[in-house]
Amino acid sequence: MTMQSLAIAAYLVAALLFIMSLAGLSRHESAKQGIWFGIVGMALALVATIGLAVDGGMSTTGVVLMIAALVVGAAIGLWRARVVQMTGMPELIALLHSFVGLAAVLVGWAAYYLVEAVGDAQTEISDDLLGIHHGEVIVGVFIGAVTFTGSIVAFLKLSARIDSKPLMLPGKNALNIGALVLFVALTVWFVITPSVWILVAGTVLALALGWHLVASIGGGDMPVVVSMLNSYSGWAAAASGFLLGNNLLIVTGALVGSSGAYLSYIMCQAMNRSFISVIAGGFGIEAATSDDTDYGEHREISAEETAALLADASSVIITPGYGMAVAQAQYPVAELTRILREKGVDVRGGIHPVAGRLPGHMNVLLAEAKVPYDIVLEMDEINDDFPSTDVVLVIGANDTVNPAAEEDPGSPIAGMPVLRGWEATDVIVFKRSVAVGDAGVQNPLFFRPNTSMLFGDAKVRVEDILKAL
Ligand code: TAP
Repeated sequence: MTMQSLAIAAYLVAALLFIMSLAGLSRHESAKQGIWFGIVGMALALVATIGLAVDGGMSTTGVVLMIAALVVGAAIGLWRARVVQMTGMPELIALLHSFVGLAAVLVGWAAYYLVEAVGDAQTEISDDLLGIHHGEVIVGVFIGAVTFTGSIVAFLKLSARIDSKPLMLPGKNALNIGALVLFVALTVWFVITPSVWILVAGTVLALALGWHLVASIGGGDMPVVVSMLNSYSGWAAAASGFLLGNNLLIVTGALVGSSGAYLSYIMCQAMNRSFISVIAGGFGIEAATSDDTDYGEHREISAEETAALLADASSVIITPGYGMAVAQAQYPVAELTRILREKGVDVRGGIHPVAGRLPGHMNVLLAEAKVPYDIVLEMDEINDDFPSTDVVLVIGANDTVNPAAEEDPGSPIAGMPVLRGWEATDVIVFKRSVAVGDAGVQNPLFFRPNTSMLFGDAKVRVEDILKAL
């Protein structure tokens, strides 16, 4: 068997492993297995690629450089993955997407210098296909460049290095649409006359568009944007796959591209945001209006009183949110769950699809703290059980438990599906103040007669309850 056919077989197996990896990652129980499928698939793909390069006559220096790049990249990746905090995950992912974008731009430019720049006569591509190659080059560079600058802006916003407020340039939608129209015109021109200056213009235009698209989006929508950039980076990789004639890159790029787009769509639905508005750089988003409604007085409760309430309860639902991640309260929450379950209390977790700042953020934290998977339920599985629940512990959650989403048609989050915790007998809200959450909307739950506020850092407060219990 030749190296060529061995590599094709290895790529096929790697593609299947990536699909199995995605399938595994969709459920708690199989997530670890899914990660392993991904690792093995990627290792196989790397070995096959190096094998192909050696077989294709790459010089020893070339092979050594390639392996050195791989080792340095893997070492940096391992180091970052080990030190990153869960709350810093979105910005790390955004930064990684920028690398994929930059790689696609470099591949596009390299393909240009290999084919278009040397003149038609010397290339192996037939005249019929040359136009397609020109198209692939400029489209690949465009997607890569949009992903590159878009991801850098997302990284800068998420890490608070620049202001996360949306940039509101006059006529911003016209600017985006104008840039797209100009790009189509440049593509047609480049396919007819593949001059370097058209490619330069296309690259600069795409870099500016990527920057503007993401700069126009507010910090609150940034996680959706990261997922959208994940999708763009997939399409950028697929475009590189076409240029390099690498089927695995095409398959992997398409998997990442479509799964990222679908994930963004699900996130938009769970946040009641328009998908088109988010991907089109905040198209149609209006500035928030101030709220002067009188919500009444809130009641406070102490950790000891909460412990007494929990000791008498027979059913408890914990609805965690972003504050639990900030406070790192998952460990005492896991301990509280264990103690209450030992006392015979029915304790379950209710997870909103966009609780926290990442899809699955709360599930990962609770799993990390060893809360059993089978008592951690999704919003749709638990939402009808609140009326028969004694105590709901809202730990650092806010928007995801806001009744205004269901009851106030004028609320900015009206229509967003929420956890109906207020239907329980008693609700205890753990947070540091009655301040608003990510969506910037006040929460009438805090002022309901069956709600008590347990102010302070969520971790410290849950630890106080553990002491009292
Ligand atoms: P949020 O509505 O963001 O509220 C979190 C609350 O945690 C804050 O109001 C804050 O109140 C409290 N908090 C912060 N640090 C705390 C600490 N150390 N101890 C106790 N409380 C603390 O959270 P949520 O309910 O999870 O909702 C998520 C929001 O993010 C939604 O608006 C969602 O649309 C948005 N979002 C989520 C995603 C994904 S995929 N998860 C993506 C994009 C946007 P205090 O300051 O008063 O303490």
